[in-house]
Amino acid sequence: MEYKKIFMYRAIQLAKNGLGMTSPNPMVGCVIERNGLILSEGWHYKVGMFHAEKNAINFVKDVSLLVDSTLYVTLEPCVHFGKTPPCVDLIIKNRIPRVVIGIKDPCDKVNGLGIKKLRECGIEVIENVLKNECRFLNKRFFTFYEKNRPYVILKWAQSYDGFMDDLIKKNSWISGVYSRQLSHKWRSEEDSILVGRKTVINDNPKLDVRKWFGNNPIRIVLDRNLSISDSYFVLDRTKYTIIFTEKKKENRRNTEFVQISFDKRVIKNILNYLHKKKILSLIVEGGKMTLESFIKEKVWDESRIFICNIFLKNGLEAPIISGKILRKKYIEKDKLVIKIPF
Ligand SMILES: NC(=O)c1ccc[n+]([C@@H]2O[C@H](COP(=O)([O-])OP(=O)(O)OC[C@H]3O[C@@H](n4cnc5c(N)ncnc54)[C@H](OP(=O)(O)O)[C@@H]3O)[C@@H](O)[C@H]2O)c1
Repeated sequence: MEYKKIFMYRAIQLAKNGLGMTSPNPMVGCVIERNGLILSEGWHYKVGMFHAEKNAINFVKDVSLLVDSTLYVTLEPCVHFGKTPPCVDLIIKNRIPRVVIGIKDPCDKVNGLGIKKLRECGIEVIENVLKNECRFLNKRFFTFYEKNRPYVILKWAQSYDGFMDDLIKKNSWISGVYSRQLSHKWRSEEDSILVGRKTVINDNPKLDVRKWFGNNPIRIVLDRNLSISDSYFVLDRTKYTIIFTEKKKENRRNTEFVQISFDKRVIKNILNYLHKKKILSLIVEGGKMTLESFIKEKVWDESRIFICNIFLKNGLEAPIISGKILRKKYIEKDKLVIKIPF
């Protein structure tokens, strides 16, 4: 069968519209092609709403055209009843004869069953078209199902001479205004955000999305002895917050106190808990000890470091992280370096 990658590229582009909205579902895009032209397209807007295939099919005015069309979809169509009926049944019902799939769904409920059912019904299926790109699109979703933990992003800003804080608060911001705005955009793309106890005490961060549009991530704080008082923003009950602690404390509105052991396995215990809560991704925003705990345990998938045009000369040294450089770019005067593990 003839297929054209350009339609899959378009489906990937559409899927990205769902960034920050679909979790714990994946981002999915769909294009319906007929005679080399796009008949319809769709994507999964938000968890609980229609899947990409359903949206694309719904937009077709003359459904009789579907019997002679090809459906491109970035992820294998679902075969189970979730919040919406199976997309495979919809494709079969509409007698679409050809389906081009980016990548197989790793989730147990699908994992090849969607492809099998389509083929059993006589539908021609082409798999793995732009597979790497479709996998990268859903890096959070794939990490969650393959590694049984959220996708972990480590993020910090450091001075040109390698410090992440002057410790006397002479300079309140290391990074520039656009880097900070970008950080808020990143927050809106992830399910959760984590900091250590000392960052809360020193900086009193809100850990929300203010300089961008989007959902606030779940706030997570490591506070072994519950030494953070209610006057700090993270305990203001305005956004869902999880405090990991060794102490026992009753939950209250929007705040969950989770008792765990702060032994050597603390980071893994935290990630296990987040996995059980179906949290697909986590951005760790400091401080040094907390970031280094993830680095030491080798549980990170991406690091995003702003190397800023400022000299602190002294203070808290930034973590050292080795990895493959994925991207380097300037955000005004700040150099952003994105790494992935070797
Ligand atoms: N430049 C940046 O991007 C950036 C970002 C964030 C923060 N910062 C700066 O970083 C400084 C704070 O960094 P920090 O390294 O001193 O502290 P931190 O990482 O913010 O907090 C450390 C505390 O968190 C808990 N914790 C973290 N990892 C743990 C682990 N593996 N096991 C057990 N407990 C753990 C411990 O709490 P307990 O002591 O209660 O046991 C520990 O003392 C602040 O001054 C802040 O301004 C800079």
